[in-house]
Amino acid sequence: MAGRLGVGFIGSGFITRFHIRSWAAVRDADIRGIYSPTRANAEDAAALARSLHVGDARAFDSIEEMAADPSIDCIWLCGPNFARVQNMERIVAAIHKGARLKGIACEKPLGRNAAEANRMVDLIEEAGVLHGYLENQLFMPSLERGKQIVWARGAAFAGRPYLARAAEEHGGPHMPWFWQGDLQGGGVLNDMMCHSLEVGRYLLTKPGAPRNSIRPLKVSAQIASLKWSRPEYVAMLRGSMTDKVDYARNPAEDWARATVTYVDDAGTPLIVEATTSWSFVGAGLRLSMELLGPEYSMSVSTLDGGTKVFFSRRLQDQQSGEDLLEKQNAEQVLMPIVGNEAGEYGYENENRSFTRAFLDGVQPELNFHAGREVTELLMACYMSAEEERVIEWKPKDLQSYVPPPARR
Ligand SMILES: NC(=O)c1ccc[n+]([C@@H]2O[C@H](COP(=O)([O-])OP(=O)(O)OC[C@H]3O[C@@H](n4cnc5c(N)ncnc54)[C@H](O)[C@@H]3O)[C@@H](O)[C@H]2O)c1
Repeated sequence: MAGRLGVGFIGSGFITRFHIRSWAAVRDADIRGIYSPTRANAEDAAALARSLHVGDARAFDSIEEMAADPSIDCIWLCGPNFARVQNMERIVAAIHKGARLKGIACEKPLGRNAAEANRMVDLIEEAGVLHGYLENQLFMPSLERGKQIVWARGAAFAGRPYLARAAEEHGGPHMPWFWQGDLQGGGVLNDMMCHSLEVGRYLLTKPGAPRNSIRPLKVSAQIASLKWSRPEYVAMLRGSMTDKVDYARNPAEDWARATVTYVDDAGTPLIVEATTSWSFVGAGLRLSMELLGPEYSMSVSTLDGGTKVFFSRRLQDQQSGEDLLEKQNAEQVLMPIVGNEAGEYGYENENRSFTRAFLDGVQPELNFHAGREVTELLMACYMSAEEERVIEWKPKDLQSYVPPPARR
């Protein structure tokens, strides 16, 4: 249909469903296809899209078939990390056979390590289509607005901000492969610090200035397996996931912190401080961000949104779920709820922005090159943690580096 984009999703899991739920806020694009190796799952996600009236979606039997279908203009790559490169290779093969795509958007991480991220960049260049790196947190309305106000009312008069803090924390991921270092690429550092590092860089970048207007100089990080390698939690993980998730033998880190020192064009030192954790105990997913400069500061915390519910102990047989918020940990007493998670975590603005760019033929700045930079920073964090030293940017052996939990 002229003037509308048809979008196909690879993967029908947790994140695809988040994107589908965000789509009511996306104009000029319909969800028309879902591919997943298990056809029933693809059909289920397609049915969700249809039920929300965000597109006449149907399940496809292969990536090649979906990419070649005339109703599909763009692909959102939302499969698991271990399938990322292979999924992309199949899209590119389809393009060589005549599939006509306008754009490809890829979920985090672009690759499990720098070599894979490099391969993804080579493949997108071979494909010759527009590309986006899906980092939803940069599109959080609270963050975007907070950044805009702090730069306009604080930095404009007192000088640029110097410190950004970002944290993402919850009790642990929902599927076994996230916990398996070789399949996922690492532990929580690889899984979630991609968000916090990019949020920090974004907050410290002057509105309208290019991404590379601030440059990394040094990286220092630390990782630890604090909770999930304790014997009782090893057993719990084996029981709730699979025997392949064995944190007695093959633990991955469930806590990480990193400090990245940047510098701007004028040589001003800037710091990004990031923390991430799968060992957080609280109501559910907590995203916290701060931006500090001379005479001003800004803070965001997604668990402090305002709405709370209370359920007394006399309510029996509560079913566990994530109906109050992502990675919900409890069902009773006082619980915060997030009114519109797909909106507040940034998915609505993200998808609106990428579909608009692809429709207009504009290359987004948040693209595969940006995704590769994020992966490279994460690898430098692992190096720093492993070698217990500060890493000068950009280390030479980055391309062949694989984080310790992924070396099996
Ligand atoms: N932006 C975010 O905050 C965020 C949150 C969660 C996940 N993610 C990313 O999204 C991606 C998917 O995560 P998820 O939580 O949906 O995982 P998931 O395990 O819930 O779903 C993965 C989906 O991929 C399908 N799949 C399995 N093997 C495949 C293959 N070889 N090719 C294509 N698809 C395959 C599965 O059937 C499933 O539908 C990951 O890369 C993850 O890092 C991002």
